[in-house]
Formats: sequence, structure tokens, C-alpha cells
Amino acid sequence: MDEAGKLFLGGSRNSDDTLKKAEYLTLKFGNRHGLVTGATGTGKTVTLQVLAEGFSAAGVPVFCSDIKGDLSGIAAMGEPKDFLLKRAEQIQFAEYDNAAFPTIFWDLYGEKGHRVRSTVAEMGPLLLARLMDASDAQEGVLNIAFKIADEGGLPLLDLKDLQALLTYMGEHAGEISQRYGFASKASVGSLQRGLLVLEQQGAEHFFGEPALRISDIMRTAPDGRGVVSVLAADRLMMNPRLYATFLLWLLSELFEELPEVGDPEKPRLVFFFDEAHLLFSEAPKVLLERVEQVVRLIRSKGVGVYFITQNPLDVPETVLAQLGNRVQHALRAYTPREQKAVKTAAETFRANPDFRTDEAITQLGTGEALVSTLEGKGAPSIVERTLIRPPAARIGPLSDDERRKIIHASPVAGQYDEDIDRESAFEILMARAEKAGQKEVPRRAEIEVREDGEDAGAAGRWTLPGFGDDLEDEPSPRKKAGSARSGYQRETVIEAAMKSAARSVASQVANQIGRALVRGILGSLKR
Ligand SMILES: Nc1ncnc2c1ncn2[C@@H]1O[C@H](COP(=O)(O)OP(=O)(O)OP(=O)(O)O)[C@@H](O)[C@H]1O
Ligand SMILES: [Mg+2]
Repeated sequence: MDEAGKLFLGGSRNSDDTLKKAEYLTLKFGNRHGLVTGATGTGKTVTLQVLAEGFSAAGVPVFCSDIKGDLSGIAAMGEPKDFLLKRAEQIQFAEYDNAAFPTIFWDLYGEKGHRVRSTVAEMGPLLLARLMDASDAQEGVLNIAFKIADEGGLPLLDLKDLQALLTYMGEHAGEISQRYGFASKASVGSLQRGLLVLEQQGAEHFFGEPALRISDIMRTAPDGRGVVSVLAADRLMMNPRLYATFLLWLLSELFEELPEVGDPEKPRLVFFFDEAHLLFSEAPKVLLERVEQVVRLIRSKGVGVYFITQNPLDVPETVLAQLGNRVQHALRAYTPREQKAVKTAAETFRANPDFRTDEAITQLGTGEALVSTLEGKGAPSIVERTLIRPPAARIGPLSDDERRKIIHASPVAGQYDEDIDRESAFEILMARAEKAGQKEVPRRAEIEVREDGEDAGAAGRWTLPGFGDDLEDEPSPRKKAGSARSGYQRETVIEAAMKSAARSVASQVANQIGRALVRGILGSLKR
């Protein structure tokens, strides 16, 4: 069954139920994305596991979310149970053997895996607005907040940094509106309340440092197999928006950070997006367009994205059209909506003269699916009724003990366990606010600029509201003359922030201060 450059999926059947041929996913088309669909209990998770095992065996790292905990079994040796051996026999899979796969467990809450974090700055305004279900006005305020932070070199790491910045914006709503566009006190206030809700929902666990390094989900084991990263998502699923936003953030990070590789022999990483409907349902149009764009473009970075969902109608047509490798498990067709879903699913396949696709979809057994993959020059193969191969690792969850052992022995053990709380917007703004209360104390920014030999009277002032200029009895002549925009001399803010950031070494965000920050398609920072 092992063929070079191919991942064995299962065996297809003729209309008389005899075995037809082995079905494969061609690895060089692994970055042309995929879709696994089917009703509850039809075999989606096992298929996901089979794919993940296959990619890992081929040396491709895999990232997948584990909604019910049952994917964790991929880390444990499977057992030759009767129903699995029977399946292997049905598809004449003589080499069927059990194996455990190299696995790293991740968990936003740090309970069932290593902590996964991102910074507020990394996530960016677009995804954060989505996470908070922000109104247009609130999103406008968020954009301004990020602009101020990006330009001014205020590191936004965790939620309290953003809170502090919003407080500052609320106190200076008038001036900020003049410089950046309308930011009403009311919108700022409702955003602040939104942040509190996020915190209560546990999102604060996710924001902070050390942030996840992409290289840690792109590992290969010493034996050459790709490491399978399993994100524990059972608790996370209680906050579906956080779940969807987190995966989108990860996708955009991969997109922004990885170099172009064209069409490699095999993918550099395969990303499974379970419960994919959460990504698309109620997502604003702009976001949907961006997601579609990222999915389209990430291919050339060698990343394959596989969506798993019950109903192919869950995925917008523009995205659906890009998913080359399809595994369709059984669907029910009682209600009109179900019938429509069956019809839509059937229409996406290249028809097989031996059977009607729409009929077959409703007749498939458990662990059986309609399969079509890209072949030859990249055209979809004729759809085949396929018995999916049994997985090599365990079907079903690990025990807590087994999981703990794997987490302990993991190559990233100890690297993400502790929070790092370095100086960021919160501390900087607090210090500013304190200084504002003590007029006579010389301001740090002023002194620094003087040391540089510049005219402290003009450029050497904090000129964002509350950063110094409002402490002046008389505005400086240069400021008086300038427009509102040029009166905002952001260099001074940057310089001062640089100084404070320089004190906190090993800082990602601070490294970027001094050069322009560039945000990517989904608004996350480019490094
Ligand atoms: N390829 C397969 N080989 C053997 N048994 C299978 C296979 N696929 C599925 N099964 C059997 O069907 C059961 C249900 O499969 P699975 O958990 O993958 O369904 P699902 O579609 O993910 O369901 P849900 O929507 O509830 O998550 C498995 O526990 C296993 O017993
Ligand atoms: Mg499942």
C-alpha cells in the first residue's frame, strides 16, 4: 500500500462490492487543501486521524484541533481490534500495523497541553474585533488603538495593555478624534466592557508571552516523522469565537511568516480546521474575503489546509472551490436543507458513471466515504466509494496519565509554562500617568533627546495627549504653527518607548520599534 509520494486512504469498491483499487492522496498536491465532511458518527475524526498519521509518516508536521479529546489517541499505539483487522482485510491492507505518532499537546488554558499564547499586537485589530464581536464604531476605535500603539511603539502584549491604552484614549477622546478619526468615549467604554467579558471568558490566558513560535509546530521527530500538534479544544469550544479566532490567527501567522516555496514535493505543514463552520458562520464579509485570500495564497507557502465540518454548505463557495482533496462521509437527507446539502456535496465531485453521487452519499456506511483527490496534473480524480483504512494509532482518547507523560517528555517542555510579564503598554502608560501628576519632575523623553543633542524644546516632548504637551503652560511655538497632524511628533514617543523597551530584552514587539510595523492580510504583524 505504501507508494512513494502518496498517502494511503483506503480501498474503493465496485458496484458489486468487490475491491476496486487503492485510493491515495498525492503528497505533492497535499498543499492543495482538502475537506472532510459527514454527519455525526460517520467517521470524520477517524479519517482526520488517518490523514494526520499519513502526513506524519511522510515527514510532514501536522497541526489539528481536538474537539472531543478523541484525537489524542494518535499519540498511543493502536490495538489490533477485530473490527479494524476486518476493515484491513476488506481492503486487502496486508501491511496493516499499529504505531504511535510523535505528538505535542497544546492547550490555551495550559491544562491538557503546553500553553499557547499570542500577543494582542500580533493578533491585530481585525481578528480582535471579530473575537469581541465588535460593532463598526468599536472596530474603528480598535483600529485607532493599534495605530497609536504601532506608531508609538507601545507594546500591546496582554489584555491589560489594551485596557490601559483604551483608558488613555477615553481620557483624551477629543484630541485623538482630531488626529486619527472619530473615537467616541462611548465606543471606547463599550470596548473596555467587551474586554472585561473576554477576560471573564478566559481569553486572558491566551494573550501574553511567551508567544507560540511557529517553528514549534513545524517539527519533525528524530526518526523523520512529522510531529503532530494536537490542540486540546474541548474547553476552548465553549467559546467558539475564541476557538475560531485562534485558529485564524495561527493560519495568518503561518501565512505571514513562512517563505514562498511554490509547489513542494510534499507540504511543509498540514493544518486541520475541525468544526470549520465556526470559522465562517456570522463572520463579516471583509473577514471572509481575507480568509479566502489566505487559503488561496498559503498554498505557495507549502501549507495544506483541511476543513472538517458536517455539512459542505458550511463552507463558502469561494473557499470550497479551492479544496482539492475531498472525503465525503454519509449525510442524511430527510429535510429539504439536508437534501440540498447532499445535492451540493454531490455536485462538487467528478461523477463516476457506475453510481449516482447523491444517492451514494446517503448510503455510505460508517468509515466509508466518497473520495476524490487531485491527481496527474492536478485534476480531481473520479469519485470513488471508499472504505477508509483503519488508523495505526489508538481510536479514542488518552488517559490523563498517558497525556501527562507525553507532555513531560515533549521537546517544548518547560518553554511555555510560565507567563512572562515584561514592561509593556500598561506599565508605560501607568508611569506616564504618574508623571503627569508631578509637573516639576523632568520627563525622561526630554532628557534623552537632549542627550542626543536635539532641541528638546521642540522635538523632545511627548506630544501625544497626556504624554507631556498638555503639561505645558504654553504650547511650544513650533507646535502652535504646525497642523494638528504635524503637531503630533511621534518620533518622540517612539524614542522614549524605545528606551523603555530596550530595558526589556528578548522582546519581539520591541524589536520592531523604530521600523515601520507592517500588518498582513488578516491584520497580524509581519516580522
Ligand atoms: N476508517 C475506519 N475504520 C474502522 N472504523 C471506523 C473508521 N472510521 C470510523 N470508524 C468507526 O466509527 C466510529 C465513529 O467514527 P468517528 O468518531 O470518526 O465519527 P465522527 O464523524 O467524527 O463523529 P462525530 O461527528 O460525533 O465527531 C469510530 O469510533 C470507529 O468505531
Ligand atoms: Mg468526530
